[in-house]
Amino acid sequence: MTASSVPGPVPLIAVLNGPNLNMLGLRQPEVYGRATLDDVEALCAETADRLGLAIDFRQTNGEGELISWVQECRGRAAGLVINPAGYTHTSVALMDAILAAEVPTIEVHLSNIHRRESFRHHSYVSRAALGVICGLGVRGYAAALTALAELLEEGA
Ligand code: DQA
Repeated sequence: MTASSVPGPVPLIAVLNGPNLNMLGLRQPEVYGRATLDDVEALCAETADRLGLAIDFRQTNGEGELISWVQECRGRAAGLVINPAGYTHTSVALMDAILAAEVPTIEVHLSNIHRRESFRHHSYVSRAALGVICGLGVRGYAAALTALAELLEEGA
């Protein structure tokens, strides 16, 4: 093995979920599908494993807690995948936290927020995100991790 092929530390990706996502599977299944948050975590863990990433998967209903977790990413996580749920459309403070964390961030929504009520069409978080994936259901999380792995390879 040459020095340049020695594997480095496994990059850590924070996967953070906002309010009401603990109700996945029960909550409006016609909009969000039948998968539970445990299913989403299992999908993320499998995907990360395949990509050579580690994940720290969390959910909170609290805006302050979500902001504190985003702050923790600074200097600790190589990337952030976030479904900010309802705070997407309301939280300047969450957008500020993502900007302050200076970590490549992908925003994920299970539903296509642009096909829904007009108040869901605007996202504060998108201003701080490298990219946004919406409308693909739980696949969006796997797609976000795959994209982050490639972006990190490219030096994002
Ligand atoms: C959501 C979309 C948001 O508008 C909503 O408030 C959610 C979930 C999604 O994953 O589709 O709670 O982020």
